[in-house]
Amino acid sequence: MGGSGFEPLIIALCCNWCSYAGADLAGVSRIQYPPNVRIIRVMCSGMVHPDFVISALTRGADGVIMCGCHPGDCHYQEGNLTAQKRAEGIYIMLEDFGIEKGRYKLEWVSASEGIRFAQVMKDFVEQVRKLGPNPLKKAVLEVNKCLYQ
Ligand code: FES
Repeated sequence: MGGSGFEPLIIALCCNWCSYAGADLAGVSRIQYPPNVRIIRVMCSGMVHPDFVISALTRGADGVIMCGCHPGDCHYQEGNLTAQKRAEGIYIMLEDFGIEKGRYKLEWVSASEGIRFAQVMKDFVEQVRKLGPNPLKKAVLEVNKCLYQ
């Protein structure tokens, strides 16, 4: 389904205390993962409003992955559990927008899991690659063309 040469744009929201450190560890350990991933550091997965995820997907991202501390390790007690509850709401919203659920994922990555971080990113990039370009991306480009030409 994903046309040849399709390179998905992936936004990875990583909590400051665990997952961002895991990404950092992957980097300093020179563990490779696809360059499709753009990391945005957030203080906690529970602090990201679902609107932000929907906004990224309706503005051209092909996939969004949220990475937080493992359950029991969140530095704000239960932020990651909030993110888990919100994921269900996000899936419902995606369905309403006609976007495949597979374009959003929630994963736990600790500061010591550089290898796991890289693997999670590789898996998600492949998952989104199989889905093909975000159908809303074309619509957004068309709208922009109308507005700015
Ligand atoms: Fe990492 Fe809350 S601080 S998920």
